[in-house]
Amino acid sequence: MNSDEVQLIKKTWEIPVATPTDSGAAILTQFFNRFPSNLEKFPFRDVPLEELSGNARFRAHAGRIIRVFDESIQVLGQEGDLEKLDEIWTKIAVSHIPRTISKESYNQLKGVILDVLTAACSLDESQAATWAKLVDHVYGIIFKAIDDDGNAK
Ligand code: HEM
Repeated sequence: MNSDEVQLIKKTWEIPVATPTDSGAAILTQFFNRFPSNLEKFPFRDVPLEELSGNARFRAHAGRIIRVFDESIQVLGQEGDLEKLDEIWTKIAVSHIPRTISKESYNQLKGVILDVLTAACSLDESQAATWAKLVDHVYGIIFKAIDDDGNAK
């Protein structure tokens, strides 16, 4: 990623990160509405979709996803950023392996993240492509960790 791309990411990220839990909740709500089978992995699987946004565990997971992105975006452009991203996202992959989350589920979430960011930040096509580049990069780290584990599909 060149420095213009890093600047674009940091600048646009200011919008969703200003209200982290709401931004995460917007992402997760759309994720479960579009791909409801993912709900089965969560402790709030029995909560009706329309009540989820008020559920404390739902909101906790929503905020956590945003925090992981925030940490990643903060290190971008610093010395050793690639190694740090490796560390952050390998940790996510490893903590999720016992939950047997498929690559398909991750990709479903990726599409939703990019859609929500595009809407929230009014990204044009080239800005959306820059965001996709970042998400593809961190997903490469997750998928490598899954492949290395040899367990998940
Ligand atoms: C961008 C990708 C993702 C990020 C950054 C992320 C982040 C996190 C974090 C930080 C936690 C809490 C710490 C932990 O237990 O590891 C967590 C828990 C969890 N994640 Fe994810 N996650 C991601 C994708 C997914 C996907 C695709 C699923 C699939 C359904 C998923 C399912 C879960 C579940 C079931 C928990 C436990 C929730 C609870 O016990 O309340 N995650 N995630």
